[in-house]
Amino acid sequence: MKLSEEQRKEMRITVDYTNMTDKRLGGKGISAHTLDAHKKLAKAAHAYVAENRGKDELFMGWTELPYNQNEIVADILATAKLVRRKFENFVVLGIGGSALGPIMAFNALCHLHYNDLPKSKRRGPRFFVEDNVDPVRMKELLDVIDVSKTCFNVISKSGATSETMAQYLIISDLLQKAGVNIKENVIFTTDAARGNLVKISARLGGVKSYVLPDGVGGRFSELSPVGLLPAAVLGIDIKTMLKGAAAMDKRCKTADLRKNPALLCATLQYIAMNDGKNIGVLMPYSDNLRYISDWYAQLWAESLGKNVTLDGKPCHVGQTPVKALGVTDQHSQVQLYTEGPYDKVVTFLSVGSYKEKMPIPHGCEDIPDVSFLGGHTMEELIQAENRATAFALTKAGRMNYTIHLPAVNEYTLGQLLFLFEMQTAYAGAMFNIDTFNQPGVEAGKKATFALLGKPGYDLQRRELENSASDPDAIV
Ligand code: PA5
Repeated sequence: MKLSEEQRKEMRITVDYTNMTDKRLGGKGISAHTLDAHKKLAKAAHAYVAENRGKDELFMGWTELPYNQNEIVADILATAKLVRRKFENFVVLGIGGSALGPIMAFNALCHLHYNDLPKSKRRGPRFFVEDNVDPVRMKELLDVIDVSKTCFNVISKSGATSETMAQYLIISDLLQKAGVNIKENVIFTTDAARGNLVKISARLGGVKSYVLPDGVGGRFSELSPVGLLPAAVLGIDIKTMLKGAAAMDKRCKTADLRKNPALLCATLQYIAMNDGKNIGVLMPYSDNLRYISDWYAQLWAESLGKNVTLDGKPCHVGQTPVKALGVTDQHSQVQLYTEGPYDKVVTFLSVGSYKEKMPIPHGCEDIPDVSFLGGHTMEELIQAENRATAFALTKAGRMNYTIHLPAVNEYTLGQLLFLFEMQTAYAGAMFNIDTFNQPGVEAGKKATFALLGKPGYDLQRRELENSASDPDAIV
């Protein structure tokens, strides 16, 4: 999709933080003075990210993804074309950063019932992401796909993640039993040289593989081959997604926090967190954006949830991300947001123009409670409810702000992803923590290795054996 200058302007996403300010929230909001008092910190965070962007050793290679992938994108597009021609199904095997991005982009940019559409109405094969090792889920996926007609994209940087590798073992065994040459039906997305998938590829005689670059961690990988290959297979315009990301990056060049959308969001959240707002709700008013909340939850939680600063001082920082969907959760969680503890910031994602409008016909004229809806559209209804919920929260003194997308498309999604990634990097710099590691996740991975008898984990296994449940604590 080639966008004119005019279209790019029209598709610019914006941040409206009116409902975070003390002007709106009285004493419960953030004053212009407080925001100004954080200018120095914001500037330092901005400088840290600007100075270190692209550095693999700091896991900041993701900042360059909008610019350095021309050849890879061309290769991905060619592969996607072959996959579309050859396979009935495309299955991603991966977890965490290797799965949440593909799920999010699929849901955002494809038909909401894509897999149920007839082949002629789909732009690619049916699409599934297996990001769990629930045996029922695995078996029931196998009930609806023919492995010999399925392309499996195994995504794992380490090739050592138990969940993904267990799935791979099951699938490769089934492919073999079906008489299929495994390498014809799998594509690996993994580390360039290290990792078990590299070894497996060599053993199979060279599997088509994409590289997850060194400086790109799982949760920052959606704009790398991790997300780009599945998206391209689905017919999503990945070049435009990358252009959207680059457009946001450009807006993040300034250290002026009132002009840089990601720096603004990071600063608002930082101030809010220091004011006891330990919960960050992300509430898109769009089913297409529903899974951006899962993707964001990992990004925000794994990046900021840390117990030590870069200079070794103990800290326990982070904000618990909560996923909500507008309008569905108005009838579930919004009661709590409006009247419960003052411990949340709600971020709304609003949409200017939905793909469909769905006019509501006139009817039930003798019942005013119903008839007032006639003549409007569902688009108007969802937008009105979005505005009304923000208004109600504000009236109740609750911090909230809105990221507005003129529409949901590749260009706006690219901007939004990059905004969240930069926001996370800035917030981590403000807390002076390592935003890009995940020692807490690694600990759980190692304990699983120990429990399942992986060599070299005897110490952990003994520790685990001594941590059996206390019978007196079981009721
Ligand atoms: O963000 C992360 O780094 C994690 O969520 C990883 O993506 C996840 O643990 C999977 O790891 P791997 O890609 O090594 O299989």
